[in-house]
Amino acid sequence: MTETSYDLFEIMRTTRSMRRLKPDPVPAELLKQVLEAGTFAANGGNMQSWRFLVIQDPAIKAAAGAWYKKAWHEVVGPRYRSGGPAPGTTAERFARMLAAAEHLADHFHEAPVWIVPCLSGPRGSGASIFPAVQNMLLAARAAGLGATLTTLYLLHEKEAEAAMGIPEGQHSYAILPVGFPLGKFGPVRRAPLSEVVFEDRWGEAWNQG
Ligand SMILES: Cc1cc2nc3c(=O)[nH]c(=O)nc-3n(C[C@H](O)[C@H](O)[C@H](O)COP(=O)(O)O)c2cc1C
Repeated sequence: MTETSYDLFEIMRTTRSMRRLKPDPVPAELLKQVLEAGTFAANGGNMQSWRFLVIQDPAIKAAAGAWYKKAWHEVVGPRYRSGGPAPGTTAERFARMLAAAEHLADHFHEAPVWIVPCLSGPRGSGASIFPAVQNMLLAARAAGLGATLTTLYLLHEKEAEAAMGIPEGQHSYAILPVGFPLGKFGPVRRAPLSEVVFEDRWGEAWNQG
């Protein structure tokens, strides 16, 4: 499988969370492509009230990353460990995902670049920012960059946003740590359509599934 790809369906099928990243810098040209892809996204009324904070300063990443790490080790990690594997995956794969998530928590600040998508106004559903986030994840994958959509730092929202210098009246909706991946891109693992698509009536399998 090639590391860069331009076929949209191939990109979507292989845009996994890439939690182990190399420390190598991300070329500005690639970063620009990823950010531009973000701004191509649908957004309410085309108001584009989004802002994208690109963080490369090691001190800021260390300060904000500490809140991510705390949330993982104290709350989210233990919660996942006490539950079962996600649908469409095996216990073994789930254990590997948890190990990767733990790695990310411990190395969060070492990702060469963070993209922090923000919206102005009171915190809402994020419907006007997550299309941009998905575009950026796909663009990063197309460019051979790894990234993960992360939100668990929001357990310590005020502290993490203060560490990132996000002003009053703005809210972050995710942190995307971006860098060249240590591992290979591979297919996402999902439950089949037959389990998640219904036809006409809730619970009735879709014929084409
Ligand atoms: C809203 C949202 C929040 C997420 N937050 C985190 C996070 O804080 N940390 C993390 O490691 N992964 C996070 N993820 C990534 C999911 O765990 C991941 O997409 C899922 O396990 C499927 O794995 P895959 O992306 O590798 O296919 C988040 C995903 C979404 C959609």
